[in-house]
Formats: sequence, structure tokens, C-alpha cells
Amino acid sequence: MKAFQLIPSIAEYADFGTLAKALKFGPADLILTNEYIYNPTIASLKLGCHTCFQEKYGAGEPTDVMVDAILNDLRDKDYDRIVAVGGGTVIDIAKVLSVAQPSDKVDDLYDRMASLEKEHPLIIVPTTCGTGSEVTNISIINRTTKGIKVGLVSPAMFADEAALVPAMLDSLPYPVFATSSIDAMVHAVESYLSPNACALSEMLSEKALQLILRGWKDAVASGSKDGWKQHAPEFLRASNFAGIAFGHAGCAAVHAMAYPLGGVHHIPHGQANQLMFADVMRKYQEKKPIGKINRLEELLAKELDVEPVFALEQLYTLMDAVLERGPLHAHGVTAEELPDFAHSVMQTQQRLLGNNYAVLTEEDLLAIYRAAY
Ligand SMILES: [Fe+2]
Repeated sequence: MKAFQLIPSIAEYADFGTLAKALKFGPADLILTNEYIYNPTIASLKLGCHTCFQEKYGAGEPTDVMVDAILNDLRDKDYDRIVAVGGGTVIDIAKVLSVAQPSDKVDDLYDRMASLEKEHPLIIVPTTCGTGSEVTNISIINRTTKGIKVGLVSPAMFADEAALVPAMLDSLPYPVFATSSIDAMVHAVESYLSPNACALSEMLSEKALQLILRGWKDAVASGSKDGWKQHAPEFLRASNFAGIAFGHAGCAAVHAMAYPLGGVHHIPHGQANQLMFADVMRKYQEKKPIGKINRLEELLAKELDVEPVFALEQLYTLMDAVLERGPLHAHGVTAEELPDFAHSVMQTQQRLLGNNYAVLTEEDLLAIYRAAY
């Protein structure tokens, strides 16, 4: 069994100013972020750091073209540490920059993935509460020139420090809170059920689930779109715990099956997970009704005040109260695409499918897509 290992230091700070003071940010540092994050929270601190605003290089998920353009612009800047402040895109790009030499392009890094070394110390400050990416060592880059979306993975890409700053979540719009916290919930469940889980990762999955469910219940009961904000520190912590857990135990079929929805129909990652979650769990229950899933049901039952037999259904109801869920066809998916999706997931996502609670065949995947359709 793989040994549980946690590489980045993890610390919580009340606000960005406290973090900047503690780590002595200054002219030798590069802050990679978005201008809409930088202006209200960092600009007034006058840290004298270099800055790079990701959105100037394109919107959406990170691509090789975007990262190459950033590398090109950074070539004549003299900086040591990289401070990534943002969501999944900013964090994924920062991990790549941290292992790039001045002359590198993205293709060079994929070519020598096995021997990458850290070129810049990396500090990651997540500003959403879902990816857990601050504690993992993978970046998903869309290699548009090659027509593939593939992870760059290296031990050198772990952050030196993951800094949790709840105040950075203040301006998070509700839909991003909803999709990112659903992503974190799915990380917690998939890592918990993974055959590669260990006692430590299970403990983190359990705690993440508990924090998310308590926060969701309160947020939904408040009836306000800002109700979640009083639990921002807990959501940020939960996302971090779930990130550590899936960094060890892996994600599984929900993530694997969500990828074509994001890739083809541009459904946000957390929402694509939501669309697949319930039907994957129902298939698990059908294939392997007795097993670890019963422990999950007991855990959920305690938090959701229902009998274990109703716990998963209650979880879907709560998740859908956080973000309304429609069938796949309402998101533009066609019935004709489903067999292709099932086939391509089977072909390309074995890394994730190997972490499934129960073995799923291509026919099972297709049945899951059809149920969600
Ligand atoms: Fe995810």
C-alpha cells in the first residue's frame, strides 16, 4: 500500500496582510492571480511584489498557449518565490511555472515530466472552496496544439506552503461557492470509498464531509445566498482535507464520467460532478450493496438526521438545494453522445476507474449516463 505522505506545510491566516507579513512577501516574489482578486485584497498592502494577472492570457481552463504566453512574459522578470492566489486555473498554472526554467515551454515540461525539479518555491492561497489543488501535485493542462487534455504530475509540483485565508472567500459568487463545495464533497466521498484509502485519508474524508454537510444545512436553512459565508473557514478547511484525502486515495467514477461533460459541453467541473454523483452511487449500491458504502451511509445518516437507508437520497436532496440539478439533456448533452462518452471514459480514465468502490463495466457506465440523461 502507498504510504500516506503530506508534503506542503499548511497554515491558516486571518487575512492576506497577516500572511504577507508572516512570509515576508516583497520584491523577490511573484504574485500570480486575477486582477479582481488582487485589487480589493492585496493592492493596498503595497508589497512591491511582481504581479501577473492570469485572465490577461485567456479565460477558462489552463491551456498550453496560455502558459507559454505567461512564461514568455515572465522571462525577463527577476523573481524567486511564486505566490498563487486564485481558483483552480491560477493554481494549476502556478504549479507549472514553479518547475519551469526560463527557456522552457509547456511541451518541454511534459517531455521531461519524470525528472522535473522545483525552480521556484511555491505558496498557494486558494480562493474557492473546492479543488483542494493547493495540496496536490497535478496540473491539468489542455494541450491544444496536441488536441489532448492531460495532467502534468511531479513531486516537484507540490506547494511549499498551502495558506488558507478565509477572508479571501468573501467575494466568491454564490454559483462558484456551490459548484466548488460540491466538488469538495465528491472528493470526500470518492476518496472515502476508494480501495486505496487508508485510516488517515479516511479520517480526513470523514471530517471534510461533516464540515461540508453542516455548512450546507445551515446555509440552506438561512434562505440567503450569503448564508454559507459564516462557515467560510470550515468550507476552506473541508476542501483542504478532502484534497489531502484524494491526493492519497484518488477520485473515481464520478470524476471520470464528469470529464466528457466538461470537455465537450463546458459544464463547470463541480457541476459536472453533481450531474453524475447520484447515479454513480445508485449503481454502486446495485453492484455491491454490502461493503464500505454502508459505513458511508451511517456517517451521512448521523449528519443528516435520517436512517442510514435514506442517507444517500437525503444527501442528493441537500446537494440539489445548494445547486439546482437538471438532467444531462438540459445541459445540451444528446442521447447519441452517451455511448461515445461511456467508451471514451473506459478507454482514457482507467487512472480514476481503478479507485472505484465497485467494478463498473462499459455497459454500467452507459447505464449511469442514461439514468442521468
Ligand atoms: Fe474535482
